[in-house]
Amino acid sequence: MKNMNIAIDGPAGAGKSTVAKMVADQLSYVYIDTGAMYRAVTYEALKQNVDVNDGLNLIHLLHQLKIDLMNQEGKQIIQVNGVNITEEIRSKAVTNQVSYVAKHLEIREEMVKRQQELAEGGGTVMDGRDIGTAVLPFAELKIFLTASVDERAKRRHEELLSKGHPSDLNILKNEIRKRDQIDSEREVAPLKKATDAIEIDSTKMTIPEVVEIILSLARERKDMMK
Ligand code: CDP
Ligand code: CDP
Repeated sequence: MKNMNIAIDGPAGAGKSTVAKMVADQLSYVYIDTGAMYRAVTYEALKQNVDVNDGLNLIHLLHQLKIDLMNQEGKQIIQVNGVNITEEIRSKAVTNQVSYVAKHLEIREEMVKRQQELAEGGGTVMDGRDIGTAVLPFAELKIFLTASVDERAKRRHEELLSKGHPSDLNILKNEIRKRDQIDSEREVAPLKKATDAIEIDSTKMTIPEVVEIILSLARERKDMMK
């Protein structure tokens, strides 16, 4: 029996990557962080002075980038043309520009193609904004993970603090709101719940609670596929 694909979409800071990684580990599936792919092209654009509003030059740049997502000793690593840029793609500059890069049709078409190839054999947990709607419309399980913007900003704030980067909670909240707005209002594949996705509001939930719900839904789906 072919392993299934699990799509997890939702706004920034909802806990997608954290729970997707844990669900993938539990099922021995591959975790695919599609946000990291958009961040990688944004990082390269900023480095090479390519305007984030210039779709044609961005796609020209993307065609020159081999993006590899890997798991090294339990850690997610991203390489571009063989160079490890795992830390660099989380910078403030990349975070605040990535949604402009992700608006372009050409960029999205190329990314969707690469992501579909990665999921071809099944056995993936993929997180992003358009996985259930555009990348894997036939995914066996689709989750739409949300949390209030206050909770999401608080989580990011604490995460940054734990890494030694204190931040201003209100500025963070405004940046998250802005990114959600651009992601939800763009013309191409905006962030939205697929009609057949199951919504989980994690505002008052712990990480293990969210993981357990997704794992039990995955077990149900697996039984149905038998
Ligand atoms: O982890 P965080 O919520 O900060 O964001 P991410 O998953 O790393 O995604 C960064 C940005 O990439 C998002 O704000 C979107 O603009 C874009 N993105 C997208 O458009 N489609 C995806 N499938 C994944 C990310
Ligand atoms: O990928 P996404 O932007 O949706 O969120 P994330 O990077 O997985 O999660 C943001 C932060 O929230 C991480 O530090 C998680 O540990 C934390 N988190 C949490 O505190 N409670 C949850 N139920 C889920 C995530």
